[in-house]
Amino acid sequence: MKWRCLVCDYIHEGDEPPEVCPVCGVDASNFVKVEEDSSVKKLSPKEATPVEQLSPEEAMKKAVRSLSYGLFIISASYEGKDNAQTANTCFQITSEPVQLAIGINKNNYTHELISKSGKFGVSILDQNGHGLARNFGYKSGRDKDKFEGIKAHRGQTGVLLPDEVLGTLEAEVVEQLDAGTHTLFLGKVIAGEYLSQGEPMTYAYFRSKK
Ligand SMILES: Cc1cc2nc3c(=O)[nH]c(=O)nc-3n(C[C@H](O)[C@H](O)[C@H](O)COP(=O)(O)O)c2cc1C
Repeated sequence: MKWRCLVCDYIHEGDEPPEVCPVCGVDASNFVKVEEDSSVKKLSPKEATPVEQLSPEEAMKKAVRSLSYGLFIISASYEGKDNAQTANTCFQITSEPVQLAIGINKNNYTHELISKSGKFGVSILDQNGHGLARNFGYKSGRDKDKFEGIKAHRGQTGVLLPDEVLGTLEAEVVEQLDAGTHTLFLGKVIAGEYLSQGEPMTYAYFRSKK
């Protein structure tokens, strides 16, 4: 069943509308079933039912959840071992030179391989990338070879990159920041491929269809 937000047109899939619209933040009462909404007029943010009064802490949490992201497969290889993980935290920092930052949990096998090799690959998922996101995002490469059965090719830096993505970027780590549970790796991009046309996957789209 599909639900449309009357304020921002965000489409949610599920048996019930979402508690809070991940795009504009209004509550569930502002959603209508898509098949029944053709005659329903769009609301302005002022007309929408406000989300219930929130404590400052709850409001902050909901605001944080409203941040938008893409979705990526981060690859790393070291001494014959290949691995990759799903990540939403990847963003371009500078364009001259092109530098990317990624946020990787210190417990992840990918973290270990990036730290040892000083390199990582980023594969940009399209909206058909749910299978890849699940394959690389819900188990660790310490326990199994996540590339088994996945079409992939080797990049210039030696990392293994999935084939069925919009494009790939490979980077050398130039800085890293200890962010507690995670490390923020800053990488200078030294290679890239544009593999296919399509709509990039967003974190919100992945969650709405998973
Ligand atoms: C949608 C999605 C987004 C994720 N984003 C991140 C992220 O930004 N950073 C991170 O460290 N882990 C992220 N993860 C979790 C890792 O992909 C997951 O812990 C993975 O199993 C780690 O694998 P590894 O131990 O083989 O490196 C995400 C998972 C999913 C499903």
